[in-house]
Amino acid sequence: MLSPEEVAAIEHEVALYDRKRAACIDALKIVQQRRGWISDEDLRDIAGLLEMPVDELDAVATFYNLIYRRPVGRHVVHVCDSVSCWLMGTEAISDRLRERFGVSFGETTADARFTVLPIPCLGCCDRAPAMLVDGNLHADLDPSRVDEVLERYD
Ligand code: FES
Repeated sequence: MLSPEEVAAIEHEVALYDRKRAACIDALKIVQQRRGWISDEDLRDIAGLLEMPVDELDAVATFYNLIYRRPVGRHVVHVCDSVSCWLMGTEAISDRLRERFGVSFGETTADARFTVLPIPCLGCCDRAPAMLVDGNLHADLDPSRVDEVLERYD
C-alpha cells in the first residue's frame, strides 16, 4: 500500500500534466526511491492512482532501464553494452565485475551490496568503456579503475 507521503508526491507530479498517466515514470521513480524497487503490489497501487491499466504501467516499468521490477542491491552498476564500448574493451570490465562479485548480469552480490545490469549506449562513446553506478557516470574505464570506482560505494 502506498504511504500518504508517496501518494502526495505522486499527486504533486500528476498536477503538472493534462492526463494522470503522463506522470507514470515520475510515480514509479517516487516509489522506487523509497522502496528500492517496484513490486507487483506497488505497480497495482500506482496504476490505480493514475487510473491506468496495470499491464500498461508494467510495460513502461520494464521498458525503462532505471526502474527495477525485482529487488536490487544497495548500489546498481549499469555496464554499457553497446558497440563503442565493445570495441574499447567493455568485456574486460564485465569480466572484472564477475571476478570481483561472482555474479553475472542481472544478479546481486551475496552481501546485497551490488546489482550488475547491462544498459544500452550511455551517450559518451568517445570515453568508452563506461558504466553507471547509482546513476553516476564513470567513463574511460579499465579493470583497475573499476576497482577504484567501486571502493567509493560501501
Ligand atoms: S557505446 Fe558505450 S557509451 Fe556509447
